Amino acid sequence: MSSAIKVQQVRPAKNFSGSLTLPGDKSISHRYAMLAGLAEGTTRLANFSTGADPHSTLACMAALGARVTRNEDGTIAITGCAGQFQQPEHPLDCGNSGSTMRMLSGLIASHPHTFTLVGDESLSARPMERIRKPLAQMGAAIHLTGGDGLTGGHAPVTIHGRPLRAIDFETPIPSAQVKTAVLFAGLQTEGTTSLNEKVRTRDHSEHALRAFGAVLTQDKDKLSIAGPQFLHAIDAAVPGDLSSAAFFLCSTLLFPESNLILDSVGLNPTRASLLDVITQLGGRIKMLNVEEHHGELVGTLQVTRSPSGLKGADISGDLSAQLIDELPVLAAIAPYTKDGIRIRDAKELRVKESDRIALVARNLKAMGAEFTEYEDGLDIPGGQSLHGATIDSGGDHRIAMAFSIAALRASGDTEIDGAEAAAISFPEFFTHLDTLCQR
Ligand code: S3P
Repeated sequence: MSSAIKVQQVRPAKNFSGSLTLPGDKSISHRYAMLAGLAEGTTRLANFSTGADPHSTLACMAALGARVTRNEDGTIAITGCAGQFQQPEHPLDCGNSGSTMRMLSGLIASHPHTFTLVGDESLSARPMERIRKPLAQMGAAIHLTGGDGLTGGHAPVTIHGRPLRAIDFETPIPSAQVKTAVLFAGLQTEGTTSLNEKVRTRDHSEHALRAFGAVLTQDKDKLSIAGPQFLHAIDAAVPGDLSSAAFFLCSTLLFPESNLILDSVGLNPTRASLLDVITQLGGRIKMLNVEEHHGELVGTLQVTRSPSGLKGADISGDLSAQLIDELPVLAAIAPYTKDGIRIRDAKELRVKESDRIALVARNLKAMGAEFTEYEDGLDIPGGQSLHGATIDSGGDHRIAMAFSIAALRASGDTEIDGAEAAAISFPEFFTHLDTLCQR
């Protein structure tokens, strides 16, 4: 991400409509890039995420010996290392990307080299104990910086690669990144590695592993992978990113005459609780042309607002975990709902790219909203009017975009300070926002 702080002005809008194809899903792009880098042969990916984070993953895969080619037609070709990563010459730079650091740790831990994984200031403060623990249980020599392994260390992460042993792991926190680190390590480890998920998290890794030729079994909550297994290259188009779509789906809710069409969006059921909440809030969603590609559902979404207007929602328990990336934008539009939005069991938001509960609270306050902040969420009453303000993105992409949406219904203009952070997941965000808003 560029270090220059950019301020983006967002003016209120009168309506929101149009059609769009979104760049590829960030989560799926990371996984395809990593597995392609390990596989034998050349993987060709269309609609790869344009966000900076998956490009950090691509750079890491190149440093590990994969050949990454960005073609003129926008496709990406990755020739993998056929199961043998090389010793990188420099630390693996994961940039702002927690997914890169956590999932890659599992992918490389059994390779006979020394790896150092580093990140930017935000990533270097994020908890890595959650991946150290299962990987160390598998026998990995993995060391964090700071903390004592109990209080939670962070990057730089050092791994002295060596053969691992299979484990039976109970995930203590719902995290698809931790699940993936264990599955990627298990893939390359003799014996059967199993994992029990109490809360079902996004299952892109399971679909991606199968797409690249691996065999996984699922028995109720227990997921097992017998290793070692070898992967082969694929051709794939990455579905549009539903978490990026969330900003525009929420915008649609703010205007009675809105009409939005999003083509080729990822509709994986483990991500799609967002659509239930949008419907509950007063959105009318039609799903068209739904198809399955490499296990992932993809389709067109047509969204309008119900004539009865914008209601409210309670988000807690498993739903909070499943909606974790969409909570900032739901919180940002909450004051405009009739009945408000209450969010609980979302403490994880405090250890994302920023403390997202604190930053949502600070920015809601700047726009004149009333709310109550809790350690694990927020209560935001409905029926409020907001005014334009200067928003602090805190360098967090989802905060920059969430408050750009709140700005569409505020009185007066809003300035997003640190707007360049949007490029972490969605560089085209402000351009699309401008096209879809009628002013
Ligand atoms: C992701 C999982 C989630 C999510 C992140 C992407 C993934 O993180 O917040 O943006 O691609 O697996 P956790 O696994 O830490 O919940």
